[in-house]
Parts: sequence; C-alpha cells; structure tokens
Amino acid sequence: MKFFVDTAEVNDIRELNALGLLDGVTTNPSLIKKSGRDFAEVVREICDEVEGPVSAEVVSLDYDSMIAEGTKLSELADNIAIKVPLTWDGLKACRTFSDQGKMVNVTLCFSANQALLAAKAGATFISPFIGRMDDLNLDGMQLIQDIRQIYDNYMFETEILAASIRTANHVSECALAGADVATCPPGVLRSLSSHVLTDKGLEGFLKDWEATGQKI
Ligand code: E4P
Repeated sequence: MKFFVDTAEVNDIRELNALGLLDGVTTNPSLIKKSGRDFAEVVREICDEVEGPVSAEVVSLDYDSMIAEGTKLSELADNIAIKVPLTWDGLKACRTFSDQGKMVNVTLCFSANQALLAAKAGATFISPFIGRMDDLNLDGMQLIQDIRQIYDNYMFETEILAASIRTANHVSECALAGADVATCPPGVLRSLSSHVLTDKGLEGFLKDWEATGQKI
C-alpha cells in the first residue's frame, strides 16, 4: 500500500519524504487554510519536494469553472493530481481531465455507487472518507472493501485512496481491505512506528546493558 501524507505543511512533508516514506501528498481547501500559505505557492513547493502525485482541489461547483481551475492547477507542476468533488459536474470534469491524460482524484466519496461512477469517469484515484463515516457510526472500512470488490470485479484501474484516516488501526485495516493508498495526517504516519511493548522491551534492554558497564 502506498502512503500519501494529508497536509499542506511543507516541513512535515520534507521530514517524511527524507525517510523515503512518501508516495504522494493530498491537500484540500481546509488544509490550505490551516497552513496560512498562498495556495499556488505552497502546492508548487510541495511538488518540488515530492515526486509522486500531489492533489490540489478545485473550489468551483460548475463544470466550466472546474475545468478552468483544474487546468490552472495542472500547470503548477507535472505531478499535480486535480482533485474534483464527487458531484455530477465533478464527474464530467473528471472525464475531461482524464481524456487529456491528467491525473484526477475524485474526492468526498461516501458510497460504492459513487466510486463506481468515478471509475467509469476515468478517475486516477477515488477518495472514500473513512473517518467522517465512522463519525456518523457508518462503516468506512466496509466501504473500502465494497469498492475493492467492485473494482476487482470489473478490472477498473482507479486506485482506492483511503482518506480521512484518523488512527493507526485505520491504516492497517485499509491495507487488509486492499486499499491502494492511504493518505494520513503526519501524526498518524509517525504513530505507526509506536508500540507500548517496543518501548517496554527497549527500556529493559537498556537497563541490562547499563548493568554490564560496557560501551559499543
Ligand atoms: C483527503 O484527500 C482529505 O484531504 C482528507 O483525508 C480529509 O480528512 P478529514 O476528514 O480528517 O478532514
């Protein structure tokens, strides 16, 4: 499973990328607001840092304006994935961009039927929002499994990009369910290395090592 980071904070992106951990980046208008940075400037900087796809989202609701915005965004760098919402106009824009050979991430997916439409519209990525479903006591992980089954049934090449990930458990469950990508906040990616038994074991080893009085 590929790891994308879900942030517009360039320092976090740099640190995770230096570890060789990052396959791409996702941003959204809320993350841009949180960064306090100019949209085009920060996206360009992220694209310089990371080789993989960097999602940048359109903010218009009608087809013509989405095409104008997405075209502008795609000119920022070669690795831009234009993010469009899962609406009728968003799907139309997806088809146009896909026919032009551009990467498209169809976002805000909450049902298997939406995912089916996005695949038929030529989406590069479909983004089901796990955490937001869980917040409403809906089964986000079941949605990932359903999309996996549908895409495999018909050999769709659209990649399942599990989004709105909140916990380390979400990540392993997405991997088990066959998601192609998980986009995680930096804190969740860092938390994947932690285990209480690792900390406890290390503490014991270091105590015993100290007692030997040796040095390496
Ligand atoms: C994905 O592309 C979205 O930017 C993101 O995962 C949304 O996550 P949230 O529900 O935590 O805002």
